[in-house]
Formats: sequence, structure tokens, C-alpha cells
Amino acid sequence: MKVFISRIIPDIATNLIKEAGHTITQFTERRDLLFEELVSICKQHDAFLSVSHNKLNREFLSQCTNLKVISLFSVGYDHLDVGEATRLRIPVGNTPNVLSNATADTAFLLMLAVSRKAIYLHKTIARNEWGYYDPVANLGIEIYGKTLGIFGLGKIGYELAKRCKGAYNMKLIYYNRGSNREAEKELGAVKVSFDELLQQSDILSVHSALTDETREIFDKKAFSKMKPTSIFINTARGGIHNELDLKEALKSSMIWGAGLDVTNPEPMKPDNVLLDMPNVVILPHIGSATIEAREGMARIAALNVIAGLKGERLPFPVNPEIY
Ligand code: DGY
Repeated sequence: MKVFISRIIPDIATNLIKEAGHTITQFTERRDLLFEELVSICKQHDAFLSVSHNKLNREFLSQCTNLKVISLFSVGYDHLDVGEATRLRIPVGNTPNVLSNATADTAFLLMLAVSRKAIYLHKTIARNEWGYYDPVANLGIEIYGKTLGIFGLGKIGYELAKRCKGAYNMKLIYYNRGSNREAEKELGAVKVSFDELLQQSDILSVHSALTDETREIFDKKAFSKMKPTSIFINTARGGIHNELDLKEALKSSMIWGAGLDVTNPEPMKPDNVLLDMPNVVILPHIGSATIEAREGMARIAALNVIAGLKGERLPFPVNPEIY
């Protein structure tokens, strides 16, 4: 059968799909496909391994009902209308677990880099601004023993919590709809209300999905409840915070710093004022960008394609209710 892959991804995926007897068309240009191009290509294929964040909305799905499976090269699926895919009985797969370590490391990296203004200070050397030793300049904040607040404590948040507990004996609080019993038992994490999370966190790290409920939940009102010494970290989705409100919160010292691996929109424009703020670190959505994570994602995405084309249950389904 015919499989379309919308980017170059690690060979492990193409090898597995070919070994299963399928033919592959791969889009190799370094740009996003236009919606019309994507629809016209997908209409001619049996499976779509979707790598970019093209909107896979109702319009796309209604025109591509020929697809026997959509396999997302991501754990997040906010760019796809899952309800509509389910209604059309198109199985959708994602790539959980394999990127949890890499993404937790990115959040940890941002936490430290922001707390010591690392990227900003690196840039001052390049501007020849490393002057005399000034004991009251360039001061950061120490993390040891502080409170980590996790918004959306799933697998990635759990990995971050483990690191913060082990390295810095941090107190752990979290806000979730349900409870994370494992984190409570193993790490002593305590579930709190959203307001308590805002008020008590020294580091507040976002790990939830982007949904109608979480969209821009971190707005002016939320930032105003945070400690002036706190650091806001987002490695989940840029749409979960309101960027203008975040800028304002930083400028007016409502919060101390911010570390973002996700922005809204992406890519961020080079003239964005956030890029010049001392207590801010921005990364270009590299949470899962390690060799290990990307190979794991490629493998799972291929297994989802192969199972879907056989009419079998996907190993990692986003809409298991279709079975
Ligand atoms: C994911 O897997 O959801 C990452 O954010 C990459 O999109």
C-alpha cells in the first residue's frame, strides 16, 4: 500500500515500512506543504505519516477518507480534529513515552539557564561587555529546596519532577484534572488547586496538552498571582500562555523569568523583545530533538502505520474508542 511521509525522518521508519511491503512517497522540500497540496497528495495514499504541524482539520479529514491510518510524528495532537477522525473511523496514532526524557531535560535546562541568565550573559561576552568583577551584577536565583509546580503531571512532568527532586530536593506540587498517585507515592508530589499552583510555585513548568480548557490559561490574571521571584517554563505548546501577557508580566516584574521551548506563533520572529530580556531563554521547539527520542518516535510512527494498514489496533492510538 502507499504511504505518504511529509518530512525526512530517521531511516528506521522508512526501513520498517518498506520491509512490511509498502511503498513510500516522501516530501523532501524544506517547507510546509500548502493545505491544498497536502490534501491532493493524501487523497492518493493509504496512510499518512504526518511530521509537520499542518492543520488536519475537519475539511482535511472529510476529503481524505481514503486514509486507513494517520500516524503523527509527535506526542501532541492538538493540530488534528480527533473527534472528526473518530467519526470517520480513521485510526490516529502518536508517539508517547520515547520523548519524555528529552523533553524533561529541556525543561530542566531552561530552568537552570533562566535562573542564571545563562544565554543573555553568553551574549554579553560576544558584545565585549565582560568588564570588571562586579559582586552585585549578573545575579541569578538558586533552585535548591525551592518549589516546583507542574501544570499537567503526566509522563514528561514526572520525569522533570524526578530530576528536580533528585538534584535539588525540590518540593513538588501539581495541578491536574485527575490525580497522579505514582508521583504522590514515589516523589511526595502534592495535588493543589490552580490558584495554589500559581501562588506557591518558584518554578512553574507547563506539561499539559493544548485544549480549549488550557488555551491561554496563563494570562495576565494567572501571572499576577505568581511570585515576583518565580520562573515560568513552557515546553508543551505556545498556545497555553498568552505571549503579550507574558511579556508584560516580565517587564513589570510580576514574575522573575521565563524559559520557553514553544512559542505562539512558531517560528518566533527574530525581533521579538523576549529574545533580549536577561531573564528569558527561548529555544526553537527542540524538546524531542535528541537522536534517541527521534529514533524512538520514528519507530513508533512506523509501527502505527504498519498496524493501521493491516487493519489492526495501533500500538499507540490517540482514538482507541474506534475499536
Ligand atoms: C510533540 O511530540 O508533540 C512535540 O512537541 C513535537 O511536536
